Amino acid sequence: MTDPTHALSFGAAAADYDRFRPGYPEEAVRWALDGVGPADRVVDLGAGTGILTRAVLALGYDVVPVEPDPGMRTQLSAVTPGTTALAGSAESVPLPDGAVDAVLVGQAYHWFDKERAHVEIARVLRPGGTFAPIWNTRDESVEWVAELSRIADLRDNAGDLTEKVTDFGPTFGPVALAAFAHRTTLTPEEVVGMLHTRSYWLTAQPGEQQRVDRELWELFATHPDLAGRERVELPYRTIAFRARRR
Ligand SMILES: C[S@@+](CC[C@H](N)C(=O)[O-])C[C@H]1O[C@@H](n2cnc3c(N)ncnc32)[C@H](O)[C@@H]1O
Repeated sequence: MTDPTHALSFGAAAADYDRFRPGYPEEAVRWALDGVGPADRVVDLGAGTGILTRAVLALGYDVVPVEPDPGMRTQLSAVTPGTTALAGSAESVPLPDGAVDAVLVGQAYHWFDKERAHVEIARVLRPGGTFAPIWNTRDESVEWVAELSRIADLRDNAGDLTEKVTDFGPTFGPVALAAFAHRTTLTPEEVVGMLHTRSYWLTAQPGEQQRVDRELWELFATHPDLAGRERVELPYRTIAFRARRR
């Protein structure tokens, strides 16, 4: 089980979350939806403020966002015209059996109670339907990005993910994996703002929050790749997994 304090910590920073967090590269979303038809119904599970929902909508699909946090749902509805998120979670999806063709998850599968979520996702998917969790992971092969992660105690690197995500239980077929290069351009203030939407920072004590901020600003002021820059390119690897319901 994940810590529920962390899992539901995002709502308080929902507007900043939507502003600073990276979107998903179109090719990664297309890969996740490979074999899903234009008239098919897609669920975005753990939809947050709708960053992935909007990427899927932009490709012309019908999307149903499902999100447990009321603050995130409010932000999603405000910035995603015509779409209202359903209250629900991976362990309890408010949809009938076999009702959807694909379930996508952006940056949220690691919060799920896996055993219960696998059963519940299989319940709402039709046989042959697609399950695809996706993450944007910072590219820590870049030295200053690794240092940023160390300072802000970020624990979602791709190495961990590719080892941790190996199967989705007996109701799903083999898991395919793909990785895509991605980047966002942000000011140093925006990078710090983005790190303030991370669950570690949101749930840290004030003294620890101050320590993180102090070291981040020191990094921006002193690292040779960052000092004096108005904008920095934050490199990501987008990691996508995909399996079919049996
Ligand atoms: C890091 S955010 C990702 C939001 C969005 N999918 C995106 O790509 O930006 C994680 C989201 O997962 C949600 N979440 C946490 N536990 C969950 C669960 N058990 N089932 C579904 N969503 C959950 C949180 O409320 C939060 O909105």
